[in-house]
Amino acid sequence: MTSAAGQNRSSRIAGFHKKTPRERLDLVAAFAGLDETAVAHLANMGNLDPALADKLIENVIGTMNVPVGVATNMKIDGEDVLVPMATEESSVVAAVCNAGRQNYETGFSTSVSGNLMIAQVQAVEVRDPAAARLRILERRDEIKAACDACDPVLVSLGGGFRDLEVRLLDTPSGTMVITHLIVDTRDAMGANAVNTMAEKLAPAIAGWAQGRVYLRILSNLSDRRLARAHAVWRTADIGGEQVRDGIVSAYQFAAADPYRAATHNKGIMNGISAVVLATGNDTRAVEAGAHAYAARSGRYTSLTTYEVNADGDLSAAIELPLAVGLIGGATKVHPTARASLAILGVSTAERLARIIAAVGLAQNFSALKALATTGIQKGHMALHAQNIAMMAGAVGEEVDKVARILVERASVRMDVAAKVLEEVRGG
Ligand code: MEV
Repeated sequence: MTSAAGQNRSSRIAGFHKKTPRERLDLVAAFAGLDETAVAHLANMGNLDPALADKLIENVIGTMNVPVGVATNMKIDGEDVLVPMATEESSVVAAVCNAGRQNYETGFSTSVSGNLMIAQVQAVEVRDPAAARLRILERRDEIKAACDACDPVLVSLGGGFRDLEVRLLDTPSGTMVITHLIVDTRDAMGANAVNTMAEKLAPAIAGWAQGRVYLRILSNLSDRRLARAHAVWRTADIGGEQVRDGIVSAYQFAAADPYRAATHNKGIMNGISAVVLATGNDTRAVEAGAHAYAARSGRYTSLTTYEVNADGDLSAAIELPLAVGLIGGATKVHPTARASLAILGVSTAERLARIIAAVGLAQNFSALKALATTGIQKGHMALHAQNIAMMAGAVGEEVDKVARILVERASVRMDVAAKVLEEVRGG
């Protein structure tokens, strides 16, 4: 993809941000020595309007297309749902479809704890932290009024300030006084709303604390915005008691061991992040919240639980913070996000969070079932073989042919794929 890079390679490019995407691309191409194919590829922005891309982030030169697949078989709170998932990883969409197929009769039941976001205001250099805490708590009504005045639209939609918390935090530079503004952000993810409130309140909080305020920002550990899903898989439908017990044992392994829990939760996030991305929500915010919640006891552990119920079937549950919205950020302006929300048919952020929680559980069930039985490589290899076949140059029908032969020969490697492609082409 590259030819000789330009001679004078300086990353200090005057006025780069003021240029058009195409002008920037030409500069980057000269810097990196990109060939025509790479430049033409980046210049093709697919189904995202270059003008919109250029507004969403800075210094745009192209877009990164990720496939959007749809998970079928999902019944959530008695309603059938088709779930759009944006991911580059094979098997992720299939895993959700498979889990949903195996419990379609009963499906997933979900709930949420509310739409409450937390904004933190950090006060330092406070002489009397315990008294400062109470001075701030005494101003609750004033704080509520100031927060609500920041966002009358949110208040008119039933949201706004809900609660106040002040925590004392021991640090190497003394006790910090940390104020939490707890705000119902309704159908917005709410970062902008609560950050505005925190910045507005900061000078007053510094005054009441008689200290200095530094940070004023939301917490991504949105543990007052939890989404939950639970489901039962009948033992007879999943291959019998040994499979069921293998899944329970896999969960217990993750519950007891952070090394395993990280991988277990990564699998959960394969499903969750894919829906979060497809709907234009903030994957990093959700991921940070999920992992922080998984460590809330002081030891990082599983986000799901599995047990055998009174009927001898597999009972599974998930609970995690899910700060997602239907308005704000890319959710409203990105056409793929809008279409994804239309496919989901959701009209509230709560419903979206509930669906995402169910997808996380479905994803995890399928991963554990595969791991506790055949292992995941069999399924993965079939799809991986297709990628290898394409990398070796296979096109059209050749891709499936080469991939099948690679799997049959149990040798999914580039060098083998190149030879197999020659055989296929040679007839
Ligand atoms: C791979 O992306 C995800 C898994 O590793 C999850 C797990 O191990 O539970 C299969």
